[in-house]
Amino acid sequence: MPLIGPGKMFSSAYSGQYAVGAFNVNNMEIVQGIMGAASEEKSPVILQVSAGARKYAGQTYIMKLVEAALVEDPSVPVVVHLDHGPSFEMCRDCIDGGFTSVMIDGSHLPYEENVALTKKVVDYAHAKNVWVEAELGKLAGVEEHVQSLEHVYTDPDQAVDFVKKTGCDSLAVAIGTSHGAYKFKGDAKLDFERLEAISNKLPGYPLVLHGASSVPQDFVALCNKYGGQVGGAKGVPEDMLRKAATMGVCKINVDTDIRLALTASIRQFMAERPDQFDPRSYMAPARDAVKKMVMHKIRNVMGSSGKA
Ligand code: G3H
Ligand code: 13P
Ligand code: ZN
Repeated sequence: MPLIGPGKMFSSAYSGQYAVGAFNVNNMEIVQGIMGAASEEKSPVILQVSAGARKYAGQTYIMKLVEAALVEDPSVPVVVHLDHGPSFEMCRDCIDGGFTSVMIDGSHLPYEENVALTKKVVDYAHAKNVWVEAELGKLAGVEEHVQSLEHVYTDPDQAVDFVKKTGCDSLAVAIGTSHGAYKFKGDAKLDFERLEAISNKLPGYPLVLHGASSVPQDFVALCNKYGGQVGGAKGVPEDMLRKAATMGVCKINVDTDIRLALTASIRQFMAERPDQFDPRSYMAPARDAVKKMVMHKIRNVMGSSGKA
């Protein structure tokens, strides 16, 4: 199956009240782990590439890995997506390079500038039949204080105005999630009332949840047991993500859990087998750990098993 855009994927997800997992890819083992999971679960999948991943691996390498994945697992519907595109130029380069979806992240800009930048990307992308995700509201970074979260949550009325003015195809909303492994100081809490309000004002419109890793505590414990220092890490409970997937959230982003699965596995291997130094000896189990985690996520969080 060739690469596809997210249009039909999201309309099926919206009406079926599930989400499609968008997993960050940086190297071959991560691509293989995710694709193996999607293939076994018969699920659609989004492989997303951040600016950092582009810099690390190079756009050509990433695209060739994705190309290989399509050959190896032809039954899996795959979207390749730019995650947090920082500029028009990077979105353009990805569109010209074969991405079927891009995110332009103007969330840090003043509202009218976010509108103008997003609209510029939409005009370019739509002429080439490419999907555009934008972001309104701001996710707190791991370093920011919990108290500063409220005023940057997405405003439902502004979301309607933003979608109308820009023509973006999907919208990432800020309702309390954040990137990284340290999402909540106290109990995990998402603003579901706000999500419901946004969803009601934009009926049928696909929303996106960033910062949606669950930070499985067994990975954290494993990292720490074998020399890691991942203290106080906390993610979004799986039942909350499941609930969001029934409320118009069609795309759920996961990167941190991939990092944790991979690192926990490698740490354990290194500690238990200090005699080994063939990279394949530790990358193979690390790839399996990613696959197992993604399979669990597809089945129990996204609800997209059997939807390929
Ligand atoms: O949202 C950010 C993703 O986790 C990508 O992270 O920019 O370090 O590749 P990165
Ligand atoms: P996590 O850090 O929660 O995995 O979020 C990833 C993300 O939103 C990528 O855009
Ligand atoms: Zn993100």
